[in-house]
Amino acid sequence: MSNILVTGGAGYIGSVTARELARAGYRVVVIDNLSKGHREALPEGVTFVEGDIGDVSLIKKLVWSYDVDRVIHFAAYSLVGESFEKPELYFENNLIKGVRLIGACVESGVRHFVLSSTAAVYGDPLEIPIPESHPLTPKNPYGFSKLGLEDVLRSYSQTHGLNVAFLRYFNAAGAASGGMIGEDHAPETHLIPIIFQTALKKREKVYVFGGDYDTPDGTAIRDYIHVQDLARAHILVLEAMENGLPHEAYNLGVGRGYSVLEVLTEAQEACGLTIPYEIVGRRVGDPPVLVADNRRFTREFDWQPEYGNLRDILVSAWQWHRVHPDGYGNGESHGAI
Ligand code: UFG
Repeated sequence: MSNILVTGGAGYIGSVTARELARAGYRVVVIDNLSKGHREALPEGVTFVEGDIGDVSLIKKLVWSYDVDRVIHFAAYSLVGESFEKPELYFENNLIKGVRLIGACVESGVRHFVLSSTAAVYGDPLEIPIPESHPLTPKNPYGFSKLGLEDVLRSYSQTHGLNVAFLRYFNAAGAASGGMIGEDHAPETHLIPIIFQTALKKREKVYVFGGDYDTPDGTAIRDYIHVQDLARAHILVLEAMENGLPHEAYNLGVGRGYSVLEVLTEAQEACGLTIPYEIVGRRVGDPPVLVADNRRFTREFDWQPEYGNLRDILVSAWQWHRVHPDGYGNGESHGAI
């Protein structure tokens, strides 16, 4: 079985995927600088190296000494709002360091590279559900930083024969390992953690951003995919990459959207508590609807989400928040993916 380097493996999606990889028999080396990730989220059975993705000599050393032939790159800043305020942070951390990481990997012999990408590369959707062929017109620095890495990888694929895959996530949600691994960002900006923090009375109410969208109930619609389903999708991609993939980009979503008010209603059912909310103005940069056309992935990989409905995702998220009202408890992270 191959040796794999997972960047950002102490983050939310990265840690769940690293665990699944180890279970599937991969020898996993995690690199994470813990600026956003959590040591507590690191799975057992992986080698952990505290370090930075922009450290070219460290990356080369890791690839050589652990005989790494494939990489999944999660490490990134991922808050859209923050990326408007501090674009330089996103270009430096996500793009510049990402380019250094990719170059170091290629130079030291990595053959397969999977990028954790995002629906934010599409910008405001011209059609719903969004196919991978949709124009790539990001509307925020976060989306631009991820699209930049897609382009760099596309180029290395042409010039160096690097096998690449861009997995464009929609809204990752839910918890893994029976509620022991979950979302913990500081500051928290994501809807589902905020809803359950409100259920736990850690917040007074949920502010619903925008009640005047052109949607059935006026609130914004998103496609929520369980983090465990995302992790499983990565393993399918890695297995298939060996023989070359028919495409580079794949949407990872359930293919069904829920409005903010629907999420709130379902969340109240999931936890059995009343969750106060107030509808306020729109949040800058939020598209009204983001729903994946996931047919490319479901057909090519014969994949269906195990968590096909929102209620199950919310029950799983509640398991985590109920037992970890303060997350991992160190309050120092800032939105690791
Ligand atoms: N929302 C609220 N109130 C809140 C928080 C969120 O109403 O307190 C709304 C948002 O306006 C949005 C929906 O809930 O309509 C979901 O918001 P999240 O912040 O949970 O997620 P986003 O859709 O903004 O972000 C996700 C990923 C990003 C990715 C982005 C692509 O988390 O990494 O999709 O646009 F970049």
